[in-house]
Amino acid sequence: MKTFYIETFGCQMNAHDSEKVVGTLLEKGYTQVEEPGQAHLVLYNTCSIRDKAEQKVFSRLQQFKREAGRGKVFGVLGCVAQQEGERIFDRAPHVSLVAGSASYTRLPDMLVQLEAGNRRVTGLDLNTTETFDTPFTRRDNPHRAYITIIEGCDKACAYCVVPFTRGPERSRTSESVIREARSLAELGYTEIQLLGQNVNSYRDPSHAGWDFARLLAETGKIPGIRRVRFTTSHPRDFVRPIVQAIDENELLCDHVHLPVQSGSSEVLSRMQRLYTRDEYMRRIEWIKNARRDIAITTDIIVGFPGETEAEFEATLRLAEEVEYDSMFIFKYSKRPKTSALQYEDHIPEEEKTRRLMVLQERQRATQLRRNAAYIGTVQEVHVEGYNLATRQWIGRTTQNKTLNFYEPDLPVPADGKTLVGQYLDVLVTRSGPNSLAGERAASPPVQ
Ligand code: 5AD
Ligand code: SF4
Repeated sequence: MKTFYIETFGCQMNAHDSEKVVGTLLEKGYTQVEEPGQAHLVLYNTCSIRDKAEQKVFSRLQQFKREAGRGKVFGVLGCVAQQEGERIFDRAPHVSLVAGSASYTRLPDMLVQLEAGNRRVTGLDLNTTETFDTPFTRRDNPHRAYITIIEGCDKACAYCVVPFTRGPERSRTSESVIREARSLAELGYTEIQLLGQNVNSYRDPSHAGWDFARLLAETGKIPGIRRVRFTTSHPRDFVRPIVQAIDENELLCDHVHLPVQSGSSEVLSRMQRLYTRDEYMRRIEWIKNARRDIAITTDIIVGFPGETEAEFEATLRLAEEVEYDSMFIFKYSKRPKTSALQYEDHIPEEEKTRRLMVLQERQRATQLRRNAAYIGTVQEVHVEGYNLATRQWIGRTTQNKTLNFYEPDLPVPADGKTLVGQYLDVLVTRSGPNSLAGERAASPPVQ
């Protein structure tokens, strides 16, 4: 029996790529196991967005080095694979497979070569027009499904390694996206998440010629689908019809993740983000002026080369003005091949940490305030799980907020009585900086 183990690092694109890799391997007769110790084929699907993420895979590879050769084959997939290429064989000689996501259509081929006893197999070509479109996806979640709509990235943000690790932008045809969404709905999935490094630059390559707003609107019309989300957006390509589509169809979730990276136009220009602070704020206004209460979240990099105290303060001011519902804050990390490497005025690590903490503290206060405003309201949640320790069900609102709740009639999940996957109304009674808590608003019989 051929067995494999896979561990995934990084973003949702990577998580979904792994689902496709797993599906492809199962189709080829492999069995998935939970421990690397039990597997013939050990795969790491890696992330290289920051140095720390990259280091993780090399420490993993060291852990199991002694088991190589005893019938065990190691493979490195994803962004570190693409970025480091054959250098991985020097750093970890027991690795046999190195493949980036732009080569995954060749994965079945590469597996055959490995099975034939080939010592080293690589898939590193970035010049592709193909997307990794496989019918064999093994999804992790039975209710919520990812659908890739666009792969790669054509932007050139000065700090970002992704254009070098995922290849050029390739959009799938709208027909194939809608077909996949329909078949997922028929299988019982109710929540769809449209994925891409930059979903807003989606361009239907077929004669239909849909843009992203149209694709989003059409996905929201598929019978059986209750929620549609999308990630991630680039502000430059974020257009008003996206907000209009959300406004018109309540199945399109009330949440936009719009990474700003910095609140200073000077820093944004050095980052080559292709928008100014004012242009970004115009998009925020569209979102805030919508009829629906759309949550806004963002990513911010502190300590980009040359970021002055005044420029950092511009980020603090922007954050106060937008009042984000949630924020991911990162300390700038040097990445290979990126144009920011040319800058010499790097910010000391302690100063990056200080800025991160100052911003984090302000953001915590904002989230406390924003979340408290939900107390007394009824929110529909999609139930995701049950927390045995707190005896609460875990739900998610349309705005992507975690809302934990008690269900007095059903204190402990029992077979056939689980609420996971259901959509329920919950009365919010408490709030914290990172989540809401409440009770079932009404208790119709559980099916
Ligand atoms: N250093 C720090 N953060 C980075 N990100 C991307 N590249 C870097 C880097 N070199 C952050 C950005 C992006 C998020 C996914 O990761 O904020 O939006
Ligand atoms: Fe990490 Fe970016 Fe690659 Fe996703 S695309 S795995 S975040 S480097």
